[in-house]
Amino acid sequence: MTTRVLTGITTTGTPHLGNYVGAIRPAIEASRQPGAESFFFLADYHALIKCDDPARIARSRLEIAATFLAAGLDTERVVFYRQSDIPEIPELNWLLTCVTAKGLMNRAHAYKASTDANEAAGEESDQGVTMGLFCYPVLMAADILMFNAHQVPVGKDQVQHIEMARDIAQRFNHLFGAGRELFVLPEARVDEEIALLPGLDGRKMSKSYDNTIPLFAGGAKGLKEAIAKVVTDSRLPGEAKDPDSNALLTLFSAFASAEDTATFRAELIAGLGWGEAKQRLFERIESQIGPMRARYEALIANPAEIEAALQAGAAKARAIAAPFLAELRAAVGLRSFTAAAANAKPVEAAKAALPVFKQYREADGRFYFKFNAADGRLLLQSQGFEQGREAGQWVGRLKAEGVAVLASLPGQLGEGVSEAELAAALQQLADAA
Ligand code: TRP
Repeated sequence: MTTRVLTGITTTGTPHLGNYVGAIRPAIEASRQPGAESFFFLADYHALIKCDDPARIARSRLEIAATFLAAGLDTERVVFYRQSDIPEIPELNWLLTCVTAKGLMNRAHAYKASTDANEAAGEESDQGVTMGLFCYPVLMAADILMFNAHQVPVGKDQVQHIEMARDIAQRFNHLFGAGRELFVLPEARVDEEIALLPGLDGRKMSKSYDNTIPLFAGGAKGLKEAIAKVVTDSRLPGEAKDPDSNALLTLFSAFASAEDTATFRAELIAGLGWGEAKQRLFERIESQIGPMRARYEALIANPAEIEAALQAGAAKARAIAAPFLAELRAAVGLRSFTAAAANAKPVEAAKAALPVFKQYREADGRFYFKFNAADGRLLLQSQGFEQGREAGQWVGRLKAEGVAVLASLPGQLGEGVSEAELAAALQQLADAA
């Protein structure tokens, strides 16, 4: 059986060397494995959550697309597309939103980090929090579930989101699957082996630390200048160096065999000058990145070629998404009326199996509830309440305490209904829950 692997890249920035070594290169390598069916997409709807600068969004999606193509992604083998080219994804997003507990989203780390920071700063907790940020994990679940991915390679920070996608998938399967697994339950794959590339200062390479080395931007000259800024000590050529005192050796190892890395280490210990060491590191990286950069620049100069590749990818993706979404729509009851006639009976029969509470508001502006038997007969009718909450509280008490609350409840039994019948119906409901 083939394993379907899917991952998205948020399009808010320009890829740097750390993104290449830590994400792009391993993703492309994995996609070449036999038995893997890979889906890579630009998460440009997610980008809108983090960035309201249209020029930056537009630039980033072009650059990231060109980077993947230049780095050797085989679009014949891999389904490569933009999230925003697949209208089925936001449609599924809504179906999932309707079964996602708000409490689950309240616990999302990204959202909690924002509210915690606000609270620490003495602000209102939801200050600056958009519904996009709050619902981020639902859209991510839609990305994954739309294609029934088995595995989702992500960084550690995204593992919780995959778990949420599983929860949402399970709930949807339970509610609408009628015994079938509509959605595959996805698994996060965190590659521990892939070392995080250090930046200029030795900390993890990250835009937020301002310590990145560009991948293609600035050309060979830009790469060389960045490498010149790798922080070293002031030991002179000829003096023994501590090869682990800065980022040079680790950067080198990301582009070299174990053997060549060992040689480089030995040379540093033997007194290789930092300047010379940086030159070797530059040459090593450039020998691999240089040819890609040439392809990258050609692609950026000819965006029509990138556009065509992504359109073809979108067509492949939609060929899977559209029929699946039609199935999901039918499962939740959004069916054509001609098809619905055939389905109407079993649905009613299933619904008719249990008694049901109904809360509603009348034209008098007051809030009511009633309790109907499985066959639709009225078992209990409340009086009107000022607040919807009051009606809800009585329903809660009836469910929890049963007919014992009847004496104080403002309402009456339906015609010909006995207390015993009401008690039996409440019991039936409790048993089903
Ligand atoms: N949230 C991911 C990130 O920032 C990007 C992403 C969006 C994603 N949708 C996805 C990753 C679906 C994997 C699967 O890293």
